[in-house]
Amino acid sequence: MDVSRTQVGIVGAGPAGLMLGHLLHRHGIDSVILENRSRDYVIERVRAGVLEQGTVDLMRDVGLGGRLEREGLRHDGIHLAFEGVRYRIDMAALTGGRAITIYGQSEVVKDLIAARTETARPLHFNVEHLRVDEVTSSQPVIHYRHDGEQHQLQCDFIAGCDGFHGICRPSIPAAHLTIYERVYPFAWLGILARAAPTSRELVYSLHDRGFALFSMRSDEVTRLYLQCSPDEDLSAWPDHRVWQELAVRLSTSDGWRPAEGAITQKSVTGMRSFVADPMRYGRLYLAGDAAHIVPPTGAKGLNLAIADVLRLSRAFAAFYGSRDSGLLDLYSEVSVKRAWRAQRFSWWMTSMLHRSDSANLFDYRRQIAELDYLVSSEAAMTSLAENYVG
Ligand code: FAD
Ligand code: PHB
Repeated sequence: MDVSRTQVGIVGAGPAGLMLGHLLHRHGIDSVILENRSRDYVIERVRAGVLEQGTVDLMRDVGLGGRLEREGLRHDGIHLAFEGVRYRIDMAALTGGRAITIYGQSEVVKDLIAARTETARPLHFNVEHLRVDEVTSSQPVIHYRHDGEQHQLQCDFIAGCDGFHGICRPSIPAAHLTIYERVYPFAWLGILARAAPTSRELVYSLHDRGFALFSMRSDEVTRLYLQCSPDEDLSAWPDHRVWQELAVRLSTSDGWRPAEGAITQKSVTGMRSFVADPMRYGRLYLAGDAAHIVPPTGAKGLNLAIADVLRLSRAFAAFYGSRDSGLLDLYSEVSVKRAWRAQRFSWWMTSMLHRSDSANLFDYRRQIAELDYLVSSEAAMTSLAENYVG
């Protein structure tokens, strides 16, 4: 068995784990990142696309802004569509110049892996049988297998950045954790298509057949979503049906509709709101989706994960710099509070824009009235814009 040591053992090489490793490196703090999937799988997973202003600023500040600057698409506004009309919300004008940037999560992960590789600090893919141990002692341990060898990694701290289905959160005794959860009765069918975006900005649409979202990844790639059922059978969605349904739910009376193209990826994602509180147990700290999940309607998940690890990296820096554990002690409380703010916004966007089987015509008219108010009130638009850009 191989026995080694590090300051922070990081479980998971998603955006949270990789960014934490990068931030710690910049503070001169040692870490080992352990991921159970392959490098290609982690990079190719198609997920988030919207970066808040704060995430973009952080990427730039920590030397990861090069490709983001060249290839990211800055959007000053979004559209809301209902009853066949598109309304633009000018987020930059409403928030003193703040905006979002379209830059796929896979691109963020690629940049982070490249940065990690450059530092020559350890990042191991395809690890097996990972488990965390002795997290309430002063020297927690991560056990895992890699390349056929058993490893024991002794750490000062462990960061659980292993997503919703990871092992870190479940390793905390249930009595020490309160779980808040809502599972929605619908899901998103997401597609990626080789088609030039026909709108410069995102279009969120409420239609009586359900929600639809028009987004993009580049000047040549459109990303689209349709509300569907959580157990939706993908084989019931041949490409022509997907385009037909998108045209019905997204087309507006000014003649706008998405352009069709070759579909390169298709998947169904369930929707859930979830908070685990506290985000710390002994010397194990949870960050990102390991601690909280938001439905994707508010485009908050990745941004929240990045905000967690920025806070956690500063807390570790204070600890190693001056043996001050004050920020580590505050980490969970501050992060949970921020997570609830994102929960409220994501739940609100989701309930305003989706149709539920249990809802009736009254609920639909109420949703339309809410959207109608939203696009006609500067106060309401400012509230949406502030939350959306972060
Ligand atoms: P993850 O990305 O889940 O990474 C966790 C990592 O840990 C994974 O690589 C996993 O393989 C690894 N792991 C798991 N278990 C173990 C183990 N036992 N040992 C070792 N490693 C393990 N967010 C936004 O901000 N904006 C958006 O526009 C947006 N759109 C989305 C659209 C969709 C369709 C989906 C599904 C999500 C979207 N999100 C969005 C959410 C966003 O993708 C997540 O919040 C984000 O990936 C969280 O990052 P993370 O690093 O915390 O977790
Ligand atoms: C995306 O482009 O994948 C995307 C955009 C906005 C969302 C969710 C996902 O709210």
